[in-house]
Amino acid sequence: MIDNFETHTRDVLVIGAGGAGLRAAIEARDQGLSVGVVCKSLLGKAHTVMAEGGVAAALANVDEADDWKTHFRDTMQGGKLLNNWRMAELHAREAPERVRELERWGAVFDRTPDGRILQRAFGGHTHKRLAHVGDRTGLEMIRTLQDRAVAVGVDVFMECTVTRLLKDGDRVAGAFAYWRESGRFAVFRARAVVLATGGIGKAYRITSNSWEYTADGHVLAWEAGAELIDMEFVQFHPTGMVWPPGVMGILVTEAVRGEGGMLRNAEGFRFMERYDPERMELSTRDQVARAIYTEVKEGRGSPHGGVFLDISHKPADYVKTKLPSMYHQFLELADVDITRAPMEVGPTTHYVMGGVRVEADTGASTVPGLFAAGEVAGGMHGANRLGGNSLSDLLVFGRRAGLGAAEFARGSATTSTDPDPDTIRQASAELLAPFEQDGENPYALHRELQSVMQKNVGIFRTREDLERGLEEVRALGARARNVRVEGSRHFNPGWHLARDLRSMLVISEAVASSAILREESRGAHSRLDFPALDERLGTVNSVVTNEGGAVRVTQKPKAEIPAELRALLEKPAAAKPAVNAPSDEKPRKIAEAKGGSTDSRP
Ligand code: FUM
Repeated sequence: MIDNFETHTRDVLVIGAGGAGLRAAIEARDQGLSVGVVCKSLLGKAHTVMAEGGVAAALANVDEADDWKTHFRDTMQGGKLLNNWRMAELHAREAPERVRELERWGAVFDRTPDGRILQRAFGGHTHKRLAHVGDRTGLEMIRTLQDRAVAVGVDVFMECTVTRLLKDGDRVAGAFAYWRESGRFAVFRARAVVLATGGIGKAYRITSNSWEYTADGHVLAWEAGAELIDMEFVQFHPTGMVWPPGVMGILVTEAVRGEGGMLRNAEGFRFMERYDPERMELSTRDQVARAIYTEVKEGRGSPHGGVFLDISHKPADYVKTKLPSMYHQFLELADVDITRAPMEVGPTTHYVMGGVRVEADTGASTVPGLFAAGEVAGGMHGANRLGGNSLSDLLVFGRRAGLGAAEFARGSATTSTDPDPDTIRQASAELLAPFEQDGENPYALHRELQSVMQKNVGIFRTREDLERGLEEVRALGARARNVRVEGSRHFNPGWHLARDLRSMLVISEAVASSAILREESRGAHSRLDFPALDERLGTVNSVVTNEGGAVRVTQKPKAEIPAELRALLEKPAAAKPAVNAPSDEKPRKIAEAKGGSTDSRP
């Protein structure tokens, strides 16, 4: 028997209402189609707001020498050339127009003295490139996109979680969901679906991500038969709060370093001197995160297991103007006045570079009718993302995926048939199972998963740790099959978590398995047992597929960079060693110091 459910029909359904989802929805609507956005949280509450320091675009307002070619080169070098070159090219070329468009739609950016959009420095960017609104850039972008989406007539279904993509033959034709408040089911029928669900951060214990980021879109796509690529590449943002414990992981924007903030260890030494003397605090995130980790593990950390980030040498008014959120965040949460004293910071899981394999120009996945944009899509950032490139990514590829989905929808003959009753029955039964069975509590299993991932699949990795992690994730997966929840379907977060846990378990298995297979160090993936970058592995993507419900990882050749773009890469920025400490001596020292754990906290 199938529970009653409501049905909604739109030409294009967008799942996720962060920057990428909203930009995709606006574009599809502009093409004259009916568009629905379904999101598990409240409209406007998205990880986009955690990209605080700016949106990267070669506007050349501050450094006239900047251009798309330099942005392309920085992005590819930051990603250790594993990037989908076409995505990196489109991104660098189109980001400036997307930012100007946002301004036309009402975004209020900080200005240069002569009235142009102001840009600041960020790690790995050759020029001052980040257009910003103090340290609230993502928030301003969401505000603007949200207003625009509502104004152009996009329909929003809030606090509604999608648990399965529905198919009509081979193509995706809608989604099955439940309302978080009532627990009632809903079916969305659509000619094309865009995934824009963000990342997977909640699979880790220390993260800048909030409760929504549980790998939903990654796993919906994988279950529907789409390929995921490069899941081993998880970004640990160098600076999250480390104290007090209740706020551990909350982001401390890179803009602090962009505005001149300095990192020091417990000895007062500006330790980036040891790891990247040229770029210092404005090195790429992978390098800075490893440097902080190493300082802590080698005993030079701050009292609460981080390092010091200091901007107090700047005038107090300057700090309060440029970094208003950071000023309030530290004052209110940690009782630290950052205009007078340093912050304590340490790495926090922030972003996943891996995601749904998409066609660069359209955002089409490998399954007809399914598109993806933003963090849930893979390829754009290669092995490591540069700060600020996520906001420009979601604008450029949100628009392109919206356009791709609209074109697909227009070309598909029917709105889609009625959903198959068997599929709906199965999706409902699966969702309700935790009320019937007699297993463990989802919160306890989630905490265990987070510890396993933090400890074994963290910043520095070894085969031994990864294999142990994978085994433990699989064991948790078996236990989670019988997970039990109490109470009713009426707003029941334990029940919601039981579903999200399944996605986090699948994605954790994909991350650990891909990390085992990649026997080299590249970008955010640092193997102590393979500390060097292996040129041959720069030509392959890790590909995750669904083989009868099991995670399978292989390596497949990636498209070669055309000669004219390759020529753009043959300039400055000498290749740095992939691991900060590639000597025989240092990895051993780190491995000993960490006592077999990749957790940077005591
Ligand atoms: O540090 C930050 O403001 C984050 C930016 C980003 O992730 O792009």
